[in-house]
Amino acid sequence: MTQHRTDWTLIAMNLAQLATISPALAELVDAVLVAWPGHEGFLHRRFRGETPERIVALDPVAVAIRAMCGASLASFADGYRRMCGMINDEELHFRRTGGYRLRRFAEVEALIYADPEEMRPYLDGILLSQVLWRNHADAIVLYHTVFLAGSRPGCRHLEIGPGHGLLLALAAADPACGVISGWDVSPTSLARSAQALDCLGLTKPVALVAVDIGNPDARPDAGFDNIVLSEVLEHLERPDLALETIHDLLAPGGRVFLNVPVNSPAPDHIYLFETPEAVVEMTAASGLDVTRVDLLPATGVTLDRARRIKATISTVIIATRPG
Ligand SMILES: C[S@@+](CC[C@H](N)C(=O)[O-])C[C@H]1O[C@@H](n2cnc3c(N)ncnc32)[C@H](O)[C@@H]1O
Repeated sequence: MTQHRTDWTLIAMNLAQLATISPALAELVDAVLVAWPGHEGFLHRRFRGETPERIVALDPVAVAIRAMCGASLASFADGYRRMCGMINDEELHFRRTGGYRLRRFAEVEALIYADPEEMRPYLDGILLSQVLWRNHADAIVLYHTVFLAGSRPGCRHLEIGPGHGLLLALAAADPACGVISGWDVSPTSLARSAQALDCLGLTKPVALVAVDIGNPDARPDAGFDNIVLSEVLEHLERPDLALETIHDLLAPGGRVFLNVPVNSPAPDHIYLFETPEAVVEMTAASGLDVTRVDLLPATGVTLDRARRIKATISTVIIATRPG
């Protein structure tokens, strides 16, 4: 029986309640509080106002993450703390200058994607943020319950930039996804994605290929029914060209799931989208039909306030290639 370190009785969703609805989520929260007791205030804000229904929807994601962490949960929690520190440094730069620190893909590739010592803890941290940050949790529930759930049986599914591999693993666990591919520019991400599939005991073959989606000639395959691009467009110098590539990689009638954070400083974010509307317009300009848009503000802020203070808004778009 896990001994919880904190008594969250003052908030709507306390840790004891969380543990009854999602033991996996409570374990992840606990591990982070052990690694980083000073994060408790943030986690209070994160879970304030949560409802049992929303935690039930998040539970399969938490269960998958808990399995991916395995015996190394403490080290993943440490990666989360480190990743939040990296983001905080970039946030200070953003508030001072109004822009992102790095602008060139080649710089980020050399400093982060190609360096396992940087990339591993960063990916571990992003993995835990999928349930610990409100906007990330809302986005992954949409991915799981709306986008994946709407897959046609036997569909050809591609994720570009799977990173930690969680979204790819959820696709591999979905009986509707027949043929699955993951393309990423980082060898560490490809290895982490393979590990994710392995930890979850998913034996369906998944083609993991080194691809830079910023290179218009890099198209190992095409004709996909589903394409997922979650937290990747802002990593590119020319997201407009990548969206045109996505359009061409989709089969007619195929769908894309885009998750693009605006005003979201991070060490590897180089393209600044300042409004959700800018992302929607760029998507429509690539020839895709935008069928659904969800705007998900960062933990602890309303959408109005996020717009006013330029806080992060995850812009989740589902779009279709016209048939
Ligand atoms: C922030 S992680 C996103 C992980 C996951 N999709 C998610 O939503 O949490 C970004 C991923 O995109 C990959 N990436 C960045 N630029 C890329 C490019 N030009 N081509 C392919 N993958 C890229 C990175 O290596 C990393 O694995």
